[in-house]
Amino acid sequence: MVALRIASALALAAAASARKMTVYNACPFTIWPAMYTPPDINSALPDHTTGWEAPAWSSVTFNVPDDWQSGRIWGRRNCDFSTNPGPNSCLTGGCNGGLVCDHYSGTGVPPATLAEWTMNGSGGLDNYDVSLVDGYNLPMRVSTNVGCPVAECPVDLGPNCPAANKGPFDSSGFPVGCKSDCQLASVPSNSPACCSGQWAGGPQDCPSSGAEPSYSYFKSNCPNAYGYAYDEPSGTALWTCPASKYAEYTVTFCP
Ligand SMILES: *[C@@H]1O[C@H](CO)[C@@H](O)[C@H](O)[C@H]1NC(C)=O
Repeated sequence: MVALRIASALALAAAASARKMTVYNACPFTIWPAMYTPPDINSALPDHTTGWEAPAWSSVTFNVPDDWQSGRIWGRRNCDFSTNPGPNSCLTGGCNGGLVCDHYSGTGVPPATLAEWTMNGSGGLDNYDVSLVDGYNLPMRVSTNVGCPVAECPVDLGPNCPAANKGPFDSSGFPVGCKSDCQLASVPSNSPACCSGQWAGGPQDCPSSGAEPSYSYFKSNCPNAYGYAYDEPSGTALWTCPASKYAEYTVTFCP
């Protein structure tokens, strides 16, 4: 009886310190979602694998810590893990590790649309966004169950992507990605398209004009997503929700 009461108390404590997250694949094809939690700034981890197969119309629900920082979820396309599992096992979004992404280095290979969170950050706010900073590979939406704003890029940005940015392509020649201009930069560590090096100071040092043509293409089709690294001044890149609402988040691929 005592043991049972302790067990219920622990269950309550766990419920109060985590949020439910649902990842739904509304694409009419299989994708392989992935999740990364930078280990240096996170002590607690989601209670779900870092990589899984999601058939069309399938969903999974799991818990993420209430103070999850810089956590991200993305999708992988056209994967085959049977030979040489690793970042090149997928046409887009692949990670170190293969199906299950490496805990320390398992970020996605660009181009990849990202959903990103900082839970309960400064001001007691959850921050979240859908990012095209690392390019595009799947339409995505992040929504809440408490009426906070929707972050999204619901459009397939592959077919009309500017020619130099378009790709990679599947075996039928269909573009399953659209690269950001940062990806095309000759020196990514010092580039106005990546807001790196001498352009790293902030929006005043790195206007969106340095990331053309991808910025205009991304932002005109997906205004409620991050179009380049310092897109906050657009007012439609980074979204917030009071942490006190304990929002549960749903990520929808191909919304
Ligand atoms: C947010 O963080 C503060 C400071 O650590 C903490 O007191 C508060 O309970 C947290 N709120 C939520 C909703 O997790």
